[in-house]
Amino acid sequence: MKLRHLPALLCMGIVAASWAAAAETSSQGRKVWLSDLDISKTQQGWGEPQKDKSVDGNPLRIAGRTFDRGLGTHADSALYVKLAGGSTRFTAMVGLDDEAGRFGTVTFRILGDGKEILKTDTMKAGQPAQEVDIDVTGMDTLILLVGRGKDGINFDHADWANAAFTVVGRMPETIDGPKEEAIILTPKPGPEPRINSAKVFGVRPGSPVLYTIAASGQRPMGFHAEGLPAGLSVNAESGRITGRLTQPGEYPITLIARNDVGEARRTMRLIVGNTIALTPPMGWNSWNCWGCAIDEQKIRHAAEAMVSSGLIHHGWQYINIDDCWMKKLGSDDPVVGGPTRDDCGRILTNARFPDMKALTDYIHNLGLKVGVYISPGPSTCQRYEGSWQHELHDAQSFADWGFDYLKYDWCGYSEIVGRPTLEQMKEPYIFMRGCLDRIDRDIVYSLCQYGMGEVWKWGTEVGGNCWRTTGDITDSWGSMAGIGFAQAECSPYASPGHWNDPDMLVVGKVGWGPSLRESRLTPNEQYTHISLWCLLCSPLLIGCDLTQLDDFTMNLLTNDEVLEVNQDPLGRQAARIAQDGSLEVWAKPMEDGSTAVGLFNRDETPKTVVAEWSDLKLSGPMRVRDLWRQKDIGVFRNQFGAEVPRHGVMLLRLFPAQGGQ
Ligand code: GAL
Repeated sequence: MKLRHLPALLCMGIVAASWAAAAETSSQGRKVWLSDLDISKTQQGWGEPQKDKSVDGNPLRIAGRTFDRGLGTHADSALYVKLAGGSTRFTAMVGLDDEAGRFGTVTFRILGDGKEILKTDTMKAGQPAQEVDIDVTGMDTLILLVGRGKDGINFDHADWANAAFTVVGRMPETIDGPKEEAIILTPKPGPEPRINSAKVFGVRPGSPVLYTIAASGQRPMGFHAEGLPAGLSVNAESGRITGRLTQPGEYPITLIARNDVGEARRTMRLIVGNTIALTPPMGWNSWNCWGCAIDEQKIRHAAEAMVSSGLIHHGWQYINIDDCWMKKLGSDDPVVGGPTRDDCGRILTNARFPDMKALTDYIHNLGLKVGVYISPGPSTCQRYEGSWQHELHDAQSFADWGFDYLKYDWCGYSEIVGRPTLEQMKEPYIFMRGCLDRIDRDIVYSLCQYGMGEVWKWGTEVGGNCWRTTGDITDSWGSMAGIGFAQAECSPYASPGHWNDPDMLVVGKVGWGPSLRESRLTPNEQYTHISLWCLLCSPLLIGCDLTQLDDFTMNLLTNDEVLEVNQDPLGRQAARIAQDGSLEVWAKPMEDGSTAVGLFNRDETPKTVVAEWSDLKLSGPMRVRDLWRQKDIGVFRNQFGAEVPRHGVMLLRLFPAQGGQ
């Protein structure tokens, strides 16, 4: 038997799995398939990376041609490969996989040591595979990228078919993207009071008012309100304004917060009318953190932490229970199984939620509001009891229990209608709206049906306060950026009381189950996430464990100048006003005449991003303020540009000014 020189190869860092990969050897070097490397390091906007298969797990097929080897991925996708000078060529056949049908559009790009060495034109579904053959001699790091076309990421099933390296030295190895330091950009809030709660608040005639004056600054702090209409009162210690008003109208109220070092005043417009959620709801939801592993204790702890961390002082107020509080259908587990409703048809909670009313009372007494979740179908996504044919009962239970927010998730309704028409999509939401209108409580109505039928065009019409525009988010750049930057189309449809919802926040410790992990977004990606969601007027629902907030996450969630962009009473969602490849400028007009602007760099290396006043429909000198650093940068006459880190943002507010460069 011939002895292989395995020990020597091991010294060179080759692991056993690579042995087969290195089998094809020629005089120019060994051929190493990309798909024999650890492709799990691929970041992508949807699904999981697949070895020698398409992203949906089918044989790789581009325009009728099948390939045995390759990486099946989905836009936006990035894979870092460390070559360390060991490879000379990278070859592949790239294109959109046939499984996605007639739609997707993508661009394949390769960066070698930070420089673009390949960029295909936009490729369309059905187009034959394009050959890639590039010289990578001496290169240290290669980044394989797939970007979406102008139509978003839907159907972008992208294949790096037959992708292989010619290796003459060190084996290529896939690696994580660059590590970044978690830098806190924002100065700590000062000891003087600053009022941060919404400047406009809607309540229906006769519904209980619950508005807490949120203010940062040194404690103890005293609260007052001038101009309160008869029927309302403010608690001087907690800052809670409660009572009821029956007359529709607009009531300007001066909110006052005082402590040993000063006083803050802010005018709030209380509008008694038909519309609530006049600014996007801000709070926490259990799903991205605990998934189904929730119980009353975890919800109480989240509420307590929202107060003790100080988040409550920055306007955070909802504590929302997601799926899995009801009985599970068909389960014989005594904790979650058993009858789903009582003899009167009222829904029953499972043993993890022994007393819903006591729980909501507890949370309300902390100065917070509470949300609940259910599906219009017979079951929820996790197969717990749904509202089907018990809608009014459930609306009444939610009101009796004291809930302030309802997430109504299509899910099990697909058992009722599999392929709904537009009218059928609207039907269950209109029906529950009718039920909510019959109860004596303001409940924010959040539609969740993943954007079907372009819900942003009719979410207002069916009485929604917000509506999910996408499928579920996860804590990856591909997912977050894939969702966030695809929101431009929905922008015109947002207005006070009616918000597009690109799903919940994935900063801090998340996990969708009992075990949690740090969000996989890098620090700059997290700045991008919060900045973009604020510009988009998205509901801000924190998805992490509030009992384990670190300083970086707290900073992300408590910058009042950033949150003000989200909570601006004008309620205009940002639009993308300029794009140059992966550089984007988004802007949103604010009530005071200023403009909030995000300079975004979706590329893999730092880039200068420029906002032109002409694109922003502005003219004349503007004072430019950096909102994350909370400092003025200067006055500029025509444009402002700055270097923005990889996947990062510079969030600005532009105020009309005098002079300037
Ligand atoms: C999904 C929904 C998620 C979460 C989950 C619970 O349909 O999009 O946000 O609520 O159901 O099962």
